[in-house]
Amino acid sequence: MILASSSKNILLYLITLIFFVTPSQSILSHTSLLEQICRQSPHYHLCAMTLRSSIHHRSKEDIAGFARLTLEIVNANATITLERIDKVYAQIEDPKLKKALKYCIGSYNMIVKSLLQEALNAMDKGDYKVVQQKAYVAILEAESCNNKFNNLVTSPLRDTNRYVQNLCAITMSIVNKLVQPHQRTSI
Ligand SMILES: *[C@@H]1O[C@H](CO)[C@@H](O)[C@H](O)[C@H]1NC(C)=O
Repeated sequence: MILASSSKNILLYLITLIFFVTPSQSILSHTSLLEQICRQSPHYHLCAMTLRSSIHHRSKEDIAGFARLTLEIVNANATITLERIDKVYAQIEDPKLKKALKYCIGSYNMIVKSLLQEALNAMDKGDYKVVQQKAYVAILEAESCNNKFNNLVTSPLRDTNRYVQNLCAITMSIVNKLVQPHQRTSI
């Protein structure tokens, strides 16, 4: 009985070796990690699209690597957005729109220069709870920027605000897998 079960284990071990340690498998297992992560994220398509489009640029594909990638991508978008709002703000004259944009320059300064920067630093230190907190505040900042356009005819930052919020929510869900159960945030 003991012999039978141990030779069964050896067989399983050999099968595992054959199926999982071949070189091409590394790509397949990355894909399935990506799938797994994105299925559990609040925005599957955005998650899968974002991570797939950048997967080849990276050497290390693990949960922390994917989380970092989402932060880098949202940071790139928000950084260029901030530059653009600065320019648009200087050009427009409509006082209501100007006021809303001025508020959003503040929001995006906060998002780019402190929150995402701090989230990336925390990511490097493995301080995942801080990453979640910063990403959460970034979501709130984008929301309050968005609300400034509620009574205006145009909302030039609507798509970007939504994008920042959705990607930060994806970051939070990925990082949640790295946070120890007793540290998990309840937001
Ligand atoms: C940021 O993402 C949003 C949503 O996809 C897009 O509309 C916007 O153009 C992007 N901004 C930059 C600067 O890439």
